[in-house]
Amino acid sequence: MGEFYVPVSVDSIQSDLFPDVALYLKSGDKYILYKSHGRNFSRLDAQRLVENCVDFLFVSPADLEVITLFLEANAERVLKDETLQAKAKGKIIYQTSINFVGDIFEHPEKVADFERSKRLVQNLLQYLVSDKDCLSTMETVMSHNYYTFVHSLQVTALSILLHSEAYMLARDEMLDVGIGTLFHDFGKIFIPQEILNKSGKLTEPEIALYKKHPEEGYHYLKNNTRISENALSIVRHHHERNNGTGYPHGVKGEQIPRSAQVGAVCDVYCTLTMDRSCRKALPSSIALQIMKQEMKGALNPRLLDVLEEIVCPNEAVFP
Ligand SMILES: [Fe+2]
Repeated sequence: MGEFYVPVSVDSIQSDLFPDVALYLKSGDKYILYKSHGRNFSRLDAQRLVENCVDFLFVSPADLEVITLFLEANAERVLKDETLQAKAKGKIIYQTSINFVGDIFEHPEKVADFERSKRLVQNLLQYLVSDKDCLSTMETVMSHNYYTFVHSLQVTALSILLHSEAYMLARDEMLDVGIGTLFHDFGKIFIPQEILNKSGKLTEPEIALYKKHPEEGYHYLKNNTRISENALSIVRHHHERNNGTGYPHGVKGEQIPRSAQVGAVCDVYCTLTMDRSCRKALPSSIALQIMKQEMKGALNPRLLDVLEEIVCPNEAVFP
């Protein structure tokens, strides 16, 4: 995910507000330059792409920050638009979401259940935007902090993949896992933006406030939605650690629900490998090394091995 190209729809590129960035076409595994910085994207370009059934172009990781800002502003505009029906908003959120998770599956050839996982993520998102509760919950997260939203989507896609590689789960259980993982950071809506976006170290009181997000998210969603207890347990326990060093309850090992253990592994991995303005994204192998060595004992070792198979199948990372 370090080399994460962001898909942008040809429609949105035509917007006057679209930033001047280089655009790429995807061909197999490669990205080919379509338009460089400074060159105008014309109506004719759009027409030609549509004629060739190209709906999306890609923005390189070098422009991640500027394109994320644009997408964020665009999403905000859509969500605030009261003339749009829930269904239309759902469609737009679905499109934005599916684009962000599309490229998560980096090594399809290595994952036995790849196609199923991908379909499940698509089904999950389709279900989410058609369910009133889930749609409004997604809107809330998306409009509070866009980074949290994108991060949650990536953790969800990876978690579905990791679940299907590590355990046999029925489709309904997978949907549950997906919903719980997507909303794992919901409680962050109660944390002020300044703290969430702060680039320096957090102060003690800020850390205390931050650490409340699993419990607050759990209680809010329990009281205000029909999301299942199973899914909610991921929200509540995703910061617990295998050796008892986590929060909010400091439970360990088997006391932590299985899906929350998977969620924790995917949450840490996606945080380390995702580009943020204050810190550069790490390559998969380095992230795995940190999770296995520096965080030794904190995460379920079997799940770490399965994750390694998925994200860096050809490299031997430290045992
Ligand atoms: Fe969290």
